Amino acid sequence: MLTFEQQLTGLIQQSFKALNFDEKFGKVVISNRPELCQFQCNAAMPLAKIAKKAPIEIAKEIIANIPENDIIGSIEAVMPGFININLTTEFLASQTQNLVNDKRQGLAKTKNPKKSIIDYCGANIAKSMHVGHLRATIIGESIKRISKFIGDDALGDIHLGDWGTQMGMVITAVKEQQPELPYFDESFEGEYPKQAPFTIKDLGVMYPDISGRSKEDEGLKEECRKATVELQSGRKGYRALWQHIVDVTMVELKADLADLNVDFDLWLGEASSDAFVPATVEQVKASGVSRVSDGATIVDVTPQGKHEVTPLMLLKSDGAVVYATTDLATIKERVDEFKAQEIVYVVDGRQSLHFYQVFDVAKRSGIATDTNMIHAGFGTVNGKDGKPFKTRSGGILKLRDLINMGKQAAFDKMVEAGRGDVFNEEEMKEIAQKVGVSAIKFADLMNHRSANYIFDIEKFVQFEGKTGPYLLYTDVRIHSMLAKASEAGLKAGTIIPATTDSEINLMLTLDKFKTAISKAYDDKAPNVICDHAFALTQAYARFYNDCHILNEKDSAKQASWLALSTIVAKQLELIFELLGLQVPDKM
Ligand code: ARG
Repeated sequence: MLTFEQQLTGLIQQSFKALNFDEKFGKVVISNRPELCQFQCNAAMPLAKIAKKAPIEIAKEIIANIPENDIIGSIEAVMPGFININLTTEFLASQTQNLVNDKRQGLAKTKNPKKSIIDYCGANIAKSMHVGHLRATIIGESIKRISKFIGDDALGDIHLGDWGTQMGMVITAVKEQQPELPYFDESFEGEYPKQAPFTIKDLGVMYPDISGRSKEDEGLKEECRKATVELQSGRKGYRALWQHIVDVTMVELKADLADLNVDFDLWLGEASSDAFVPATVEQVKASGVSRVSDGATIVDVTPQGKHEVTPLMLLKSDGAVVYATTDLATIKERVDEFKAQEIVYVVDGRQSLHFYQVFDVAKRSGIATDTNMIHAGFGTVNGKDGKPFKTRSGGILKLRDLINMGKQAAFDKMVEAGRGDVFNEEEMKEIAQKVGVSAIKFADLMNHRSANYIFDIEKFVQFEGKTGPYLLYTDVRIHSMLAKASEAGLKAGTIIPATTDSEINLMLTLDKFKTAISKAYDDKAPNVICDHAFALTQAYARFYNDCHILNEKDSAKQASWLALSTIVAKQLELIFELLGLQVPDKM
C-alpha cells in the first residue's frame, strides 16, 4: 500500500506529464502546517524560475491538470505558489479500512531482499555484560527485527568475545588453584571431566582478581599471555577448559537475554571464526597489503580524509590472534559461508577506529569486495552526573542488576498507583518484569543511537509521557475498552468517513507507520519508530477524548470507532514486536 503522499504524488505527476514539467519536482509531502492543510506540493516555486512565470500561475496550472479522482477533497493554490491539499473523508476511511486485517499495516515486503548479518550484543565470556552491552543488545535486536519484517534474510549473531586474553587469564587462574586437574597435564590421554571445575560465581571472582593482579605482576601477565597463545594454537586441555568456561557463562547469559526478550539466530563468536584465521591471514598477505614490523604482521590503512590512521594489527609477534584478526576472519566466514551482502555492527561508537581499519583491510585484501559493511555505532549511557553509568561503589553496573532495577522500579510504581489492590503479588511481579524491561528498552531506543543518554530509572517507568509504560498502557487500555464493548454486545464495523478532526488526525497518523518503518530500516534507527509510536498514542488519546465510544448513540459511528481502536492496538503491538517490547495483558 502506498502512503497518502505517494498516492497524491502519483496524481500530481500525471498533471506534470500533461504540462511537460520536469517530474522530479512533482512531489507531495506531509504539510508542515497541519492547521492549514494535510499535504502540500511546493513545485511551483522552482518551476516558475525555469518558466520565468509567477509561481501562483504555475500552481494553478498544475491543479487544473490533475485528473478526475476521488482522493483529493480540496486543493488550493496559495501565495506565493504553494499547493495545499486535503483528502476526501471517504478516501481516508476506505484506506484506513484496509488496515483492519492487515498484519503488515500497509507496508509491503521489499522486492530486493538481501542476506544480512546483524552483529550485536558482543558479550564477553567470563566477564559479565555491562551497560554498554545493554545498548548493543537492545538496539541490535530491534534492527534485526525491523530487517526481518522488511523482508531481508537477516540473521542476528551474538559474536561472543570468547577468544581474547581473558580466556588465558581464567585458564591461568584455574591452574593456580587446581594444578592437579588433567587439563594441565599435557600427557593426559583420557576423557576430561564433564563437570566444570568452577561455578559462574567462581568465575565472577576469578576473572577480576587475576586481571587486577596481572596488571601489577609481569610474570603472571606473561603466563596469561602464554596460556592464550596455547589455547589459540589448539592445546587440547585448554580447549576443554575453554569449553567449560563458555558453557558456564552461557547459562547466565542466556537467562539475561531471555529476560530482555532477545534471541539470536547464530550463537557464534570470535572462537568460531578461528577456523577462518589461517585463510584470512593467507589472503591478506597474498594481496600484498601487509608488512612485518618488529615481528608482528600489520597492515597500513587508508588515511581517513587528511588523517593518518594507525595500522591494523593482524598477528602479534608471538603469533597471537587479536581483535582485528578475529573480526577479519569473521567477515571472511560471513562472506564465504553465509554469502552475506550486508553486515551491520551494532557496537559502541568508541570502536569506530577499529571498524574503519577492519573494513578498509577487508575491502583492500579482497576478503569482502561486494559486501556492504556498516558500523551502526552508539553513544554511552551516563549517570545523572553526566559520566558513564557506574554502580554506587564506582564499578561497572552488571546487566542483571540493571534488569532487576527496572523490575523493582516498575513494581514500586505500580504499588504507588494502587495496583497492589487489584493484582496479587505473583501477577504484580509478572507485570513488573515486562513493564520494567520495556521501560529500559524504550528509554534506550527512543534516542538516536549515536546520542548519549542519562540512565534515570524513575523517569523510565513513569506511566505518563514518552515512556515505554505509557505506550504499553495505551494498548492495555484499548483492550480493556474493547472487552467492555464486547460484553455490552458491541462489535467493530466498517470505518465510515470521519466527522471530527481527531478522527482525521488519527487516520493520517496510522498511515505514517509505513514511512517510519522504512526510515528506521534505512538509517538503522529504531528511534524513528519510537517517535511514531508516541505520536500514535497521542493521536489516539485525543480521539478517545473527543469520541465517547461506549456512550455513542449512532451505532454506525460507534462501530467505526471500535474498528479504529482495534487498528491502533494492532499497529501498536506490531511496533512493540519490532522494538522487542513485551506487553502485559493487564497493568
Ligand atoms: N566483545 C566486544 C566488546 O565487548 C564487542 C564485539 C562487537 N562485535 C564485533 N564484531 N567486533 O567490546
